[in-house]
Amino acid sequence: MTTTSLLELRKFLAPESVFGAGASALAGRYVQNLGARRVLLVTDPSVRGLSWFEEILAGITAAGVHAELFFDIHPNPRDHEVMQGAETFRAKDCDAIVAVGGGSPMDCAKGIGIVVTNDCHVLDFEGVDNVQNPGPPLICVPTTAGSSADVSQFAIINDTARRVKIAIVSKAMVPDVALIDPLVTLTMQPDLTAHTGMDALTHAIEAYVSNAHGPTTDLFALQAIRLIARHLPLAITHPADAEARAGMMLGSMYAGLAFSNAILGAVHAMAHSLGGLMDLPHGQCNALLLDHVIDYNFDAAPDRYADIAVALGAALSPAASQDEKRQTVLRQVRALKAAVGVTGGLGALGVRPEHLDGLVAFALNDPCMVTNPKAPTANDIRAVYQHAL
Ligand SMILES: [Fe+2]
Repeated sequence: MTTTSLLELRKFLAPESVFGAGASALAGRYVQNLGARRVLLVTDPSVRGLSWFEEILAGITAAGVHAELFFDIHPNPRDHEVMQGAETFRAKDCDAIVAVGGGSPMDCAKGIGIVVTNDCHVLDFEGVDNVQNPGPPLICVPTTAGSSADVSQFAIINDTARRVKIAIVSKAMVPDVALIDPLVTLTMQPDLTAHTGMDALTHAIEAYVSNAHGPTTDLFALQAIRLIARHLPLAITHPADAEARAGMMLGSMYAGLAFSNAILGAVHAMAHSLGGLMDLPHGQCNALLLDHVIDYNFDAAPDRYADIAVALGAALSPAASQDEKRQTVLRQVRALKAAVGVTGGLGALGVRPEHLDGLVAFALNDPCMVTNPKAPTANDIRAVYQHAL
């Protein structure tokens, strides 16, 4: 990896955000501020009936705004679900969108917005800067500490015909407002907390070693790693610990700001391939791949990986050898995985050697691979998948 100069041009995008206990209850005030009359409320069925969700709904209604619910969404949101949401938006004469949920409802909501303003298919936007007109006003209320779709310029949609996850990357995908309320994550189950938390950690690590990193993204990435290392184990052992949940939510937000601007790397390229071809859970795939990709990438950015080891809590002398740095960062990441209960390999999720040809081909073509610190060959990617089996 070449050393970057502070003089290099770097863009940094972030939405308006409100962080803290009770932020989700501000949804009504914000839809009113944005001049909405009828909002499409994109969510998943699991949050319905929860007290804070009913509070969001009541707040929107109290603001004199009608909420049309759309919750027909799978994890790894599908292209046809986005198109169905756009149809509902038009049929119900909506003029703004509120997304409440994890990455899937938020990505689906982003897709719905640009489909309705550009009047085309969601898959037409695949790639970087392919969105002509921004969508209608969008407010995001994240309910997991992981995806950070609420602050990022990414939306990941499942192209069901090609069985591949496509990335839409555009300034137009940054929501107007993110209402980030750690209290809505108190009811997350331990495995979801672990997988989404490891997704956030992967965002921070990949952003820190990305070819497109800069001084501002570095700041957010390193602090995200410190916060996640400190708070993720506690959020799992003590799920009702609001401070631990807040630490994770803040870590996730920082990681999101870092990766939205520095982009990602091979872990995400390979996880997107697993998600598209085999419909496997995103965070868990990242968690299972992370240390194997670090081992592969290490030579391209040894000092950056040493910084990551220290941010994860290791004591590491600047005079340490390359091998000590490599072993230390791997040990720290593997210890955190073990502490949060991420064990086993991709084989336990049903990945078999005969799947590797397809997985490798899609991973190499994923836009996240462009910013990986090392340009891998097909054999390199195959070897990493094999190690992770
Ligand atoms: Fe991710």
